[in-house]
Amino acid sequence: MTQMRYSDKLVQRINELYHDYAGKDYSQSHPEIFEEEVFRWKYLSSRYLSTLAHPIRILDIGSGTGFVAGIICQALKEEDTIILSDISQEMVDLAKRKFEGERYGPHLKFVKIAVHTPYRISFESHSIDVITINSVLHHVQDVQTFLNEVDRLLRPGGLLLICHEPNQKFFDNSLPYWAYTFASFLDLAPANLSRATRIAALELSRRIGVERFARRVYYLMGSAREKRVSGIAQSSAQALMLADINRKLIAEHLISTPLVLDVAKLVDIRATSGFNPSELVPSYEILRLDTYDHLYKFKTLHRRNAFVKLFDSALSKMLPNEGANFCVVLKKPAI
Ligand SMILES: C[S@@+](CC[C@H](N)C(=O)[O-])C[C@H]1O[C@@H](n2cnc3c(N)ncnc32)[C@H](O)[C@@H]1O
Repeated sequence: MTQMRYSDKLVQRINELYHDYAGKDYSQSHPEIFEEEVFRWKYLSSRYLSTLAHPIRILDIGSGTGFVAGIICQALKEEDTIILSDISQEMVDLAKRKFEGERYGPHLKFVKIAVHTPYRISFESHSIDVITINSVLHHVQDVQTFLNEVDRLLRPGGLLLICHEPNQKFFDNSLPYWAYTFASFLDLAPANLSRATRIAALELSRRIGVERFARRVYYLMGSAREKRVSGIAQSSAQALMLADINRKLIAEHLISTPLVLDVAKLVDIRATSGFNPSELVPSYEILRLDTYDHLYKFKTLHRRNAFVKLFDSALSKMLPNEGANFCVVLKKPAI
């Protein structure tokens, strides 16, 4: 199925506006990153960063509230630097506040990336030793231009670490994909039933091409339920955010009519098509490639359930390349 193309400026600007709002709750809303990815970044920094010649200059793209920097700065030396960069000013400000008074403070710099096409981050070519990217690529529509910019910035022989991004192999009808879909259907725990069924049904509707219709139905059901259950607080906050984003996009002539359901879809534009990690930058050497989360969102929903953990780990042993997320370490040729 061919994917609809939007203007890159629109996708970048929606991400900027959305994350300016999402920033405030971000630290509470991503347990799959803050609980599950810590050990991975600890391992990567001790395995790949501590062996490099210092001083190292690291650029974290889409740094959010500073998750990656908070881990890797512990493996750094006095003379090293991490630049935290994000398209959202709110995220940059939150990260700045998080590290205020920390002993790593002097190692850190903060940069707001401007919305710009073609995508550009204002540093000199080949001026960065290591680029880290965690859970950002799926927010980017024009991944090729994004990676060209990464390549421009990275010095020859430099490292590119990309983690927690959707793996195309999983979404291409893999066994884990169907295991996840059926597990979600069979999930009868009352508290999870509505969420898990909704996720599974949306995945199926995407497969059979009626996703847009299904989203509309769930949106209407969801907003009616939200109003019933928790009053108007949450839905009105979302409605205000949506109205504000739409007002700005219309004033900037990026859209002519308000977006309703498409905002979330545009923010996470590549979340369910995914990437082939070995084709991201074909000229770079792959030093390490892991795929994980074989039960996808089902695993996040039940991350403390021993049986789910066991099932996920059995699938990962049987089908190591078919997890829903991947983490790859790439090395740029040294010329
Ligand atoms: C899911 S968050 C991940 C944040 C952080 N890397 C982490 O692991 O917690 C995605 C971040 O990417 C940022 N982002 C989205 N599109 C971007 C782009 N084109 N360039 C840079 N940052 C972007 C968002 O503002 C947001 O802070």
